[in-house]
Amino acid sequence: MKMKMFLAAAALLALLLSSSHAQDTGTKCKTTAQADLVLLVDGSWSIGRINFKTIRNFIARIVSVFDISPDRVQIGLAQYSGDPKTEWQLNAHSTKASLLDAIATLPYKGGTTMTGMALNFILQNNFKTSAGMRENSRKIGILITDGKSQDEIVFTSQSLRENGIELYAVGVNNADEDELRAIASDPDDIHMYNVNDFKFLVDIVDEITVNLCNSIKGPVPLSAVKNMNVYDETSTTMKVRWGAAEGATGYMMLYRAINATEPQLEQEVRVGGEVTDVQLVQLTPSTAYSISLYALHGDALEGTGVTCAASPSGAPNPQSGPP
Ligand SMILES: *[C@@H]1O[C@H](CO)[C@@H](O)[C@H](O)[C@H]1NC(C)=O
Repeated sequence: MKMKMFLAAAALLALLLSSSHAQDTGTKCKTTAQADLVLLVDGSWSIGRINFKTIRNFIARIVSVFDISPDRVQIGLAQYSGDPKTEWQLNAHSTKASLLDAIATLPYKGGTTMTGMALNFILQNNFKTSAGMRENSRKIGILITDGKSQDEIVFTSQSLRENGIELYAVGVNNADEDELRAIASDPDDIHMYNVNDFKFLVDIVDEITVNLCNSIKGPVPLSAVKNMNVYDETSTTMKVRWGAAEGATGYMMLYRAINATEPQLEQEVRVGGEVTDVQLVQLTPSTAYSISLYALHGDALEGTGVTCAASPSGAPNPQSGPP
């Protein structure tokens, strides 16, 4: 009896070991980069239960390629039809096994197709540090849909891309290709897929996973400053404030009088990443200033250079001139 139990336990252990081994070899996208992927899945009635199962398999195939863990790739999922719903957040599943379990039991929602609302929903609810999104990760959204959206998608998808989210769009069956192009990041041949039937999803799995892997390995796009505004002008000062750029380590502001009577040099102010406003002082009254603001990512590389002594004749050193 005891022996039988032991054998059963050993068999179970062997099974566990082999399944975790199979999982490791399934990881095809080998990278130490961090990425936060949110899948946005159309669960409208037009899909149908059988096809929804095909979508689950498609997602499982994509997921199995990545190294799922809190310090590598995290994957969240939202499902939408009329109203969008978070199925799980980025930080909900810390292993591939638990993520694959969740995908296998993903319920089918049913309803209409409000893609615009759903895109906005993932920006507001899933790409959030409170949901486990990491500041410096690569951020990627993947839309899977079978129909034409019944609401606005152009501006909504643009606002996701402006927030540093790279968008992939996968269309099946009746999806509107123009709409998929409008949603997907450029270039479209990497980010947009459209197949005529659910059964063809399997044909694009390899291509999409290779492209996703390249996106994850690529550099994190640096975010720029948004919404600069100038206020509280006096005769010799003005204040400037701006919206923080994600991940910026500092800001550099260049300003120069445009129409001063005496020509003026460009001035520079640098502040740390936590600062989002400055006051410019010692300005010339009744003068327009041009202001440029740059978000800095990482420290500047510093060095020195020393010019040579002028030659006795006063002529420039021939070696330093153009050849
Ligand atoms: C410079 O331009 C600003 C705004 O256009 C104007 O108010 C100001 O009088 C100008 N100053 C001079 C010196 O021309």
